[in-house]
Amino acid sequence: MKIVMLGAPGAGKGTQAKMIVEKYQIPQISTGDIFRANIKNGTELGKKAKTYMDQGALVPDELVVDLVVDRLAKDDCANGYVLDGFPRTIPQAEALTAALAAQGDKLDYAIDVEVPDENIVNRMSGRRACVNCGGTYHIVYNPTKVEGICDACGGKLILRDDDKPETVQHRLTVYHEQTQPLIDYYNGQGILKEVDGTQDMADVFADIVKVLG
Ligand code: AP5
Ligand code: MG
Repeated sequence: MKIVMLGAPGAGKGTQAKMIVEKYQIPQISTGDIFRANIKNGTELGKKAKTYMDQGALVPDELVVDLVVDRLAKDDCANGYVLDGFPRTIPQAEALTAALAAQGDKLDYAIDVEVPDENIVNRMSGRRACVNCGGTYHIVYNPTKVEGICDACGGKLILRDDDKPETVQHRLTVYHEQTQPLIDYYNGQGILKEVDGTQDMADVFADIVKVLG
């Protein structure tokens, strides 16, 4: 099963992708998580990506596409994957379609988690991310058992650098300009499924399971 998660920053792509991983035993490939791991490890890619991410801008397509195509060639992707945060632009989507087509392959589902802009800033300011494993929580909607400590790995929780309200606003603008057109793109491919992302996390997931079967 090859799935793409679509949706605004903070719509819950990562949250739902993690639940898909558990139930369907396929890997989550999050370009945001890959970049954050590179930043943490001080790699060249991380240094380049950080300058864009801190401003809420997109990392250039050429730094993203090969990275993902290489990742999809790994053994653990043989039975499918859930892409979270990629593709983000029409050129990225076209590059993915072409890379898959070259192997006689294609995506099965593009799941758009719909949340209006007015709900997003509130979600982001309450989000906490684990510095160690990237686990994501919310101080109100999905709190950890011990405040400030990741339930999964015991790592420290932080507010992401790009979750400040002014940066979130810019990420939303970038989303509407560059990423939202992917909804039409995947609708055109006949694989678009829309779910209401304003519901409880468990209800959003139940709707996704109805789609995936
Ligand atoms: P990325 O890490 O992908 O960030 P994003 O798309 O902005 O999305 P988020 O991770 O912020 O939100 P999410 O939808 O995963 O929501 P979450 O589940 O955490 O990218 C970051 C940056 O990296 C980009 O700005 C760009 O610079 C760069 N980048 C990455 N990929 C790129 C690419 N392909 N090309 C170019 N640049 C790229 O949920 C949010 C919060 O809400 C959490 O606290 C969660 O607990 C809570 N929550 C989730 N669901 C619910 C619910 N149903 N009800 C209540 N609360 C909820
Ligand atoms: Mg995410």
